Amino acid sequence: MGHAETTLREQAAPRQISMDELWMPFTPNRDFKHDPKMVVRAEGMYLWSDRGAKILDGSSGLFCVNAGHGRKEIADAVGAQLRELDFIAPFTRGHPKQFELATRVAELTPGDLNRIFFVNSGSEAVDTAMKVALAYHQARGQGGRNMFVSRERAYHGVNFGGVSLAGMVNNRRKFGPTLPGIAHMRHTHIKENFFVRGEGSQGVELAEDLLRFINLYGAENIAACFVEPIAGSTGCLVPPKGYLQRLRDICDAHGIVLVFDEVICGFGRTGSAFAAQSFGVTPDVMTMAKGITNGAQPMGAVAISERIHDTIMGAAADGAIEFFHGYTYSGHPAPCAAGLATLDIYKNEGLFERGAALSPYFLDALWSLKDVSVVSDIRGYGLLAAIDVHADGAPGKRGHALQKQLFDNGLHVKASGDCVIIAPPLIAERQHIDAIVDCLRKTLAVI
Ligand SMILES: Cc1ncc(COP(=O)(O)O)c(C=O)c1O
Repeated sequence: MGHAETTLREQAAPRQISMDELWMPFTPNRDFKHDPKMVVRAEGMYLWSDRGAKILDGSSGLFCVNAGHGRKEIADAVGAQLRELDFIAPFTRGHPKQFELATRVAELTPGDLNRIFFVNSGSEAVDTAMKVALAYHQARGQGGRNMFVSRERAYHGVNFGGVSLAGMVNNRRKFGPTLPGIAHMRHTHIKENFFVRGEGSQGVELAEDLLRFINLYGAENIAACFVEPIAGSTGCLVPPKGYLQRLRDICDAHGIVLVFDEVICGFGRTGSAFAAQSFGVTPDVMTMAKGITNGAQPMGAVAISERIHDTIMGAAADGAIEFFHGYTYSGHPAPCAAGLATLDIYKNEGLFERGAALSPYFLDALWSLKDVSVVSDIRGYGLLAAIDVHADGAPGKRGHALQKQLFDNGLHVKASGDCVIIAPPLIAERQHIDAIVDCLRKTLAVI
């Protein structure tokens, strides 16, 4: 690979930077370095490229920036926090904001999911949730339960726990057998529901896959069932009507912990604080990240039911550490300050309600693309939607070209294979939705 460099143009004076040293995540590095898409500034609904182009952010960055970019309240809170207390050992020492943020998150979670464990990313939240499920069953004398059930096309981050649960093939195929004892249910993308808005009426029986694994492996060996309420990264697979409730019922009947991975769905994306509330199904454990700090600081969290928490606490000897797990940056002061400022914005500006109110307009606008010849399916719920395009040669080739062309035409979206995922910030106005759909229409016509 030859040397690559680029000239950053929107600077006081253009300056040359080397591109050789950085290995970019989930990016075709050689392609990027040949044709860099550099972003140097962001505010509200927009990004600016180093060439001065104004780009509408159609994916809230990576489903994080629900309150829009450049929120001064968050920047100020982080700055003040770092000046007052920059770091404190999270093991055996505390600082007030981590307790305050846990309380505020627990106010948003459904049911008794009121015990909050902080981590630094969605991937860490998933691995933490796996350990919580194992520790819970150990604590109640059912230590034989160490299998997990997840789903095809699932994305649960990139650590080995999450990769083992994952059902997106490219994310696991190069990494060996991963963890043992994981069974994957079928995904819910079925042609009967193509172009159906919201929850499809077909496919509830796919939840019976969990029962088949129970029959095959024995419930006494299964710790937890992990699902994204809406499978996000694979391209917004909205669950069929009744599907999540059926999983809930099966888990209840067989003592299996139900985990919702709400890393994308959380913080207003589906019109409620969490998808659990939108779909009226409460899991036992819930993972979250991204929107918790509006993307301004790395942070994730796991919300755990009081029942599970108390079981684990109750099984430990007096004075003992109850759960041997945690990260150097668990509950770091800076993301906690960012999280508190973010939750204030969501509340004060009524952003979850705002997203819910905008959803019908958003979905109508996207469905107007139904007749574009290259489009093979559209799915959506809340302010999260995906458009599949017919493959053109190798799988993913057209989707990648589409996402690049959209950026050049002034729209940032996340692509996944031959699919683009649209998830605007919850501050979006109708005019932004119109601009997103105009850009999609224009670009889809030539891709
Ligand atoms: C459902 C889900 N779980 C976990 C993750 C991993 O989060 P992170 O990239 O912060 O590790 C993601 C990221 O998109 C996700 O969508």
